[in-house]
Parts: sequence; C-alpha cells; structure tokens
Amino acid sequence: MSASTVLITGCSTGIGAATVRRFAEQGWNVAATLRKPEATQFEQGAGRVEKFALDVTEPRSVDEAVGRALERFGQIDVLINNAGYGLFGPFESATLEAISREFRTNVDGVFAVTRAVLPHMRQRASGVIINVASLTGLVAMPLYSLYAASKYAVVGFSESLSHELAQFGIRVKVFAPGAVATDFSGRSMVRTFEGDGGPYADAIRKVMGTFAANRSTAAASTAEQLAQALYDAATDGTGQVRYVVGGDALAVMQTRKEIGEEALLGGIRQRFGLA
Ligand SMILES: NC(=O)c1ccc[n+]([C@@H]2O[C@H](COP(=O)([O-])OP(=O)(O)OC[C@H]3O[C@@H](n4cnc5c(N)ncnc54)[C@H](OP(=O)(O)O)[C@@H]3O)[C@@H](O)[C@H]2O)c1
Repeated sequence: MSASTVLITGCSTGIGAATVRRFAEQGWNVAATLRKPEATQFEQGAGRVEKFALDVTEPRSVDEAVGRALERFGQIDVLINNAGYGLFGPFESATLEAISREFRTNVDGVFAVTRAVLPHMRQRASGVIINVASLTGLVAMPLYSLYAASKYAVVGFSESLSHELAQFGIRVKVFAPGAVATDFSGRSMVRTFEGDGGPYADAIRKVMGTFAANRSTAAASTAEQLAQALYDAATDGTGQVRYVVGGDALAVMQTRKEIGEEALLGGIRQRFGLA
C-alpha cells in the first residue's frame, strides 16, 4: 500500500513546520506548502517531504500547488489549513486594507485551499480536512476583534462543512488551540494602531500587560505538542469535529461551562482591567 499524503499550509515556521516533521517521521508523504519554499529546508524523515509554493491569498498559486502535489503523490488524504496571522489592536484604528488582508489570509485562504482539494477527496470518498482556528474562535479576548472574527468564521465554516461532507466520507475537524510557543506573537502579529493607540492607549497597555503576565506564568503548548495533536486527529478515525488543545484553552472552556457565557465575558473584562 502506498504511503498516505498530507498537504499542509504555512509550513515555514511554528506549528506548520513541526507538523511537517511529525508526519514525515511517521512515514507519510508531506506536501509542505509555503510562500517562500527556497527559504526553508526539511529533513526527509521516513516519508517524502516535497515543498510547493503556495500563498493562500493567491488563488492561482493554490490551484497550481494542489495540482502539482496530486501529480507528485497521486492523492491527498489529509489537508491541514494552518497558515494565518494575528491582527491586534482597537478595531477603530484598523484600516480597511488591514481588515481585508486578515480575512483574505485567515478565512478566504482556508476556503481557497479546501475548494481546490475537495473534488479530489469527494471522488475518492475519503479524506480529512483540519482547519487550525484558535481558542479565540470560541472565546474572544479584548483587542482581537478582527482576529477573533476571522477565527470564529473558520470554526463556523468547519462545523457546517463537517455536516455536508460526512455523506462523502470526508471528515472536517477544527482546532482551537490556546497559546502555542511559536513566533506568532512576534512575526505573525500585525498591529492595527500606531504609536500608543491614542484614545485606546490605556486599554492597550492593560491588555498587553495582562497577556505578558500570562505568558510568563501560563504553560503554553509547544509547536511539537500541536503537531502531535494534529497527527492524532488526522488518524483517530473518529467523527470528532472540535479539538480544544492546551491546558489554558481547556481551562477557559471549563470555566465557561461552569459559570456560563455572560459571566465569562464579564470575567474577561475584569481580568484585563476593562470593566
Ligand atoms: N501561536 C499561537 O499561540 C496560536 C494559537 C492559536 C492558533 N494559532 C494559529 O496557528 C496557525 C499557525 O501559527 P503559528 O503559531 O505556527 O505562527 P507562525 O510560526 O508565525 O506561522 C504562521 C505561518 O503562516 C504562514 N502564512 C502567513 N500568511 C500566509 C499566506 N498568505 N500564505 C501562506 N502562508 C502564510 C507563515 O508563512 P510566512 O513565513 O510566509 O510568513 C507561517 O508559515 C495560525 O493560523 C494561527 O492563527 C496560533
């Protein structure tokens, strides 16, 4: 039997790069897609890793990369939509271009790659699609209105799609990780504001201070732990749709269950000093 194949987006760093390594170690063929393939090297592992240029905001590059991966490996068993970045800051200071770029990447990008892979999976009556959203796609934190909106969109899309694709033997899953120790809060965090944020300066200071304090105390998951969780979800053979990953994310969801939605929202405002 030929090895299974996974296609992953956003493989240059962080969760994507760790997931390439995890699947390769398990003997999978990996179509590792990235915007700049020449800038990243992967070990081959037990499986075959091939790089393909793919910018999720460029439909032509999506179609070309999926086509070339299919030519190379003959099949795509698992798609992991991982590429994305954060937009942090007051909604009021975000330009329409910044808003559009966030949605073109985090939301339209997921649509584009899924659309390109779906006909193939449907014809084979088999496949797993995993979309990497965020805990912020289930519980929105302050000053992340646009990132949260994009990840809520990914969660809603994934859950609805899971219903319509079950009939074709395709399982759709969505990941909601809490904090993951990658360079996400550095290289992948675009700010909506300049300077101190003007009328929002006090709120920005409080929110950034709370996140910084949490980062030093909270045990973020590692990219390798996320990669393992993605591998497990891809191969667990279950119809589970939502995967909340990381002790911090599980704790927030547990608190919501215990105290209810409104009390959680009030608690978040208090915690960040915004009540
Ligand atoms: N780290 C966290 O705390 C955390 C928590 C929850 C969810 N997530 C989600 O996890 C995913 C991966 O993030 P990460 O933590 O691994 O951060 P990361 O190391 O910064 O990785 C982000 C990846 O997305 C790629 N990317 C950005 N725009 C792209 C585009 N237009 N086309 C193709 N690739 C693009 C980046 O590629 P380039 O090198 O080309 O920029 C990079 O490979 C994201 O969707 C993020 O929202 C992260």
